[in-house]
Amino acid sequence: MDNFEAALAKLIIREEGEIKFYTFDSTQYSDSGSALKKSMPVFYNPIQEVNRSLSQIVYRAFQQVTADDEHFQPFTICDSMAASGIRSLRLLKYLDHPIKVISNDLNPLALKIIEKNLELNNFSREDLELTNEDAAFLFSKLHNSRQYPSSIDIDPFGTPNIFIEPALRAVALRGLVGITATDTAVLFGVKPTACARKYNLRCLRSSFLKEVGLRLLLYYTAIRAHPYMNYIEPQMSLSFEHYIRIFVRVFKGKGGVNRNLANSGYMLWCPKCDWRKTIGLDLRNSQVGSSCPLCGSKIDYGGPLWIGPLHDNLFVEKTILVLNGSTKEQIPSKKRLTKLLNIVKEENQFPPGYYDLHKLCDLLNVSVSKSTDILQKIHAAGFQAGMTHIDPRAIKSDIPINLLKEILVNLHNS
Ligand SMILES: C[S@@+](CC[C@H](N)C(=O)[O-])C[C@H]1O[C@@H](n2cnc3c(N)ncnc32)[C@H](O)[C@@H]1O
Repeated sequence: MDNFEAALAKLIIREEGEIKFYTFDSTQYSDSGSALKKSMPVFYNPIQEVNRSLSQIVYRAFQQVTADDEHFQPFTICDSMAASGIRSLRLLKYLDHPIKVISNDLNPLALKIIEKNLELNNFSREDLELTNEDAAFLFSKLHNSRQYPSSIDIDPFGTPNIFIEPALRAVALRGLVGITATDTAVLFGVKPTACARKYNLRCLRSSFLKEVGLRLLLYYTAIRAHPYMNYIEPQMSLSFEHYIRIFVRVFKGKGGVNRNLANSGYMLWCPKCDWRKTIGLDLRNSQVGSSCPLCGSKIDYGGPLWIGPLHDNLFVEKTILVLNGSTKEQIPSKKRLTKLLNIVKEENQFPPGYYDLHKLCDLLNVSVSKSTDILQKIHAAGFQAGMTHIDPRAIKSDIPINLLKEILVNLHNS
């Protein structure tokens, strides 16, 4: 029995969405039931079902948005790190046809399993284009042969850093690139040296670190497009569970590159009193010294990062419509995603940096009041406020922090 045969003998059948598929038993390869070991012969993480469900509705929304654009006919999607092929197969089943799905993985065993999974779901071998390449090399090949996919999905172990630039080059103009980053310790500020090394950016371990990480990845993505005079428009940018997931469209033009740069800057933060402020790239205009204007302590900073909108609201609305029109069999996380996307739609209007109510109340040494009461007081004071998809214990608002603190203290004392 060769190595492939021995590995294939250990496969089990699972179901996700409308797909049955062969995979390895993830419980045999996890320490605590969540962190999967790389020794799993072909990767499958059941927890990432939400990510796959989200991708499904996003790519369908995008397919519908571009349905009248000849440039996107047939709609082509490159699942560049396909592993068991579960994402490719769910897309193949769910998206409108005609469609071309390219399913790629560097691991040859993954390809064997994808072939078996095609058969298991009564697809033919011709329904999917299977490739066994390094993803960055595949993107260059697609670009060189002018076979620009309408969408590219990047879902690596850890950092996506080296795949972003070739993917932005390979995708069709006006196309959509979906990127997952699981190196959250790096982007969230726990490993600043690694962040400098991998992204050439300064992270910031602040009270809103998950949003900083998301914005660092968006900025990093934008500047990878700029050398080709391309620019990005974020369609949806999420930081949840243990990963970051962004979907950006890629366009060409000097004006757009300039707009990207105008949406880039730095985040300033005071570790003592939680004051925060964003400034643009041109530090001559910032008028900020090294001390916090509220408490005088030394401020910290992160960046450059994306300071513009995280989502395109029209696209988010379209995605919600697609979700509403899908069944629970197609999108197992339908309930969870409905809640998430409705928050996403509302949060876009607020300035960068959420307020972690628990951390703020700890700082003030007061108990945390109900979020609904806090939101009501903020509205009564003439400001906007709402939830953030990133953390249920946090809110987003345009209220200055000193006024928010007054509200939190007053509610505690009332
Ligand atoms: C996190 S898994 C992908 C999971 C899959 N997208 C899913 O939803 O189940 C990462 C995959 O990337 C593959 N991979 C790692 N480096 C690669 C590279 N340079 N090019 C292509 N695939 C690669 C691995 O073999 C692995 O199957």
